[in-house]
Amino acid sequence: GTNTPSLGYILALDLGTTGNRAFVFNALGKIVGQAYKELTQYYPQPGWVEHDAWQIWQDTCWVMQTAIENAQITLSEIAAIGLTVQRETCLIWDKTTGQPLHRAIVWQDRRTAPLCQQLQQQGYAEEIYNRTGLVIDAYFSATKLKWLLDNVVGVELNNVLAGTIDTWILWKLTGGKVHTTDHSNASRTMLMNLATCEWDETLLNLIKIPAHILPQIQPSLGKFGVTDATVVGAEIPITAILGDQQAALFGHGCDRPGLMKCTYGTGSFLVAHTGSNIVRSQHQLISTVAWTQVNHSSNLDVGYALEGSMFTSGACIQWLRDGIKIIKTAAETEAIATQVADNGGVYFVPAFSGLGAPHWDMTARGAFLGITAAVQPQHLVRAVLEAIAYQVKEVVQAIDASSRTPMQRLIVDGGACDNNFLMQFQADVLGIPVERPVMRDITVQGIAFAAGLAAEFWHSYEALVQQRQIDRVFEPGVGREYAIANFATWQKAVERAKHWVE
Ligand code: G3P
Repeated sequence: GTNTPSLGYILALDLGTTGNRAFVFNALGKIVGQAYKELTQYYPQPGWVEHDAWQIWQDTCWVMQTAIENAQITLSEIAAIGLTVQRETCLIWDKTTGQPLHRAIVWQDRRTAPLCQQLQQQGYAEEIYNRTGLVIDAYFSATKLKWLLDNVVGVELNNVLAGTIDTWILWKLTGGKVHTTDHSNASRTMLMNLATCEWDETLLNLIKIPAHILPQIQPSLGKFGVTDATVVGAEIPITAILGDQQAALFGHGCDRPGLMKCTYGTGSFLVAHTGSNIVRSQHQLISTVAWTQVNHSSNLDVGYALEGSMFTSGACIQWLRDGIKIIKTAAETEAIATQVADNGGVYFVPAFSGLGAPHWDMTARGAFLGITAAVQPQHLVRAVLEAIAYQVKEVVQAIDASSRTPMQRLIVDGGACDNNFLMQFQADVLGIPVERPVMRDITVQGIAFAAGLAAEFWHSYEALVQQRQIDRVFEPGVGREYAIANFATWQKAVERAKHWVE
């Protein structure tokens, strides 16, 4: 009949820092199957973080297949695939053998801090900011690619391809036919000109990255190619690629100025849509691409965003569990933090990978300050949770300073927002309500929506995002005074942790 919804399903791939996931969505936008595989983290030296790109590829195949099996459907019923990834992480590979030439260098990796400092000392900060919207930092891909080209032995430039994780997986899925990225991922490389949305020749020359090894840049919602039947088992169009933070922004329905979200994942990322204009904050936030799309008159519509990137948040809870092993599960931190009346005077600086917004100090490292003999493990746990909220407070202050109207409400998602203590403390320290939706996997929802809309599987973005339901709103409460009073002390701790590895 004419009213039957589209047949088939959308497959969303979310390739994140700590693991890779696949979700199958039906035509009603409901999840009917999913699979997850944790990703191995390599720490070859302090401050270095690597991923095995081959493992990312194999795990992508596994989660795809498993999610499809769990949904009890077949591959040929998938109408389109959307791909969202951890951003900035990049690699080079051999285009003949299809093998990575080195492990991927992860966004958290600090090995290129000296090269970044050199660029700063040479006075390029302003020019790079004007061209890319970014602060010079080892976070972004450019210096990581440069390191790979300089340090991998026997690189035969004519046979090398470079890319972020989206580009690598797209190339593998298409059987080596498509070497492309989207504008949101390209805007994180420090090589894309934010105004023209093309690779910036001046920067390619400055950092000495040959243009021919870089992917083409295409609209985030559009036709990227089809999967190779001999690789995947069927020819399925890939119709959306987004950085994971941009996918979450899309999934929340934040598509215009005034709308923003904060995702508490490995790091925390507060992203505010700024419409079709590049907004420059002057307060240490970066300007970036939200997503792009070709409009009805065949022009490129570019949505921009302001972002406060905080490198370490969920990662420090993971460290409490797997690193120093003072907790067994991430979830129990909520109960542990409330076993003590306060933080016992302990402050934590989450600078495992230096500090991002608003400090941008590549040489800062993590610290606990204020320890006395009275301090219990509970205080350490509580200090870690408080620190996650305090750093978001600093970014909200920067956002407020950059716009005419202060933020009214913080919309959140990501794993750590399951923690009620953290969310209440966040509302207390911000003094505004914190809104938590029922669906915590907004990133996968966002990329599924984008892929389905671009494939004309769905037709109304508004209708899709309207399905969003609020789980709970945390109002600022009695803890407000405590939170505000301690914020200043925490900021003092942050100053102590700066300029550590020089
Ligand atoms: O910029 C890094 C960011 O994209 C990583 O996101 O979700 O893997 O912490 P996530």
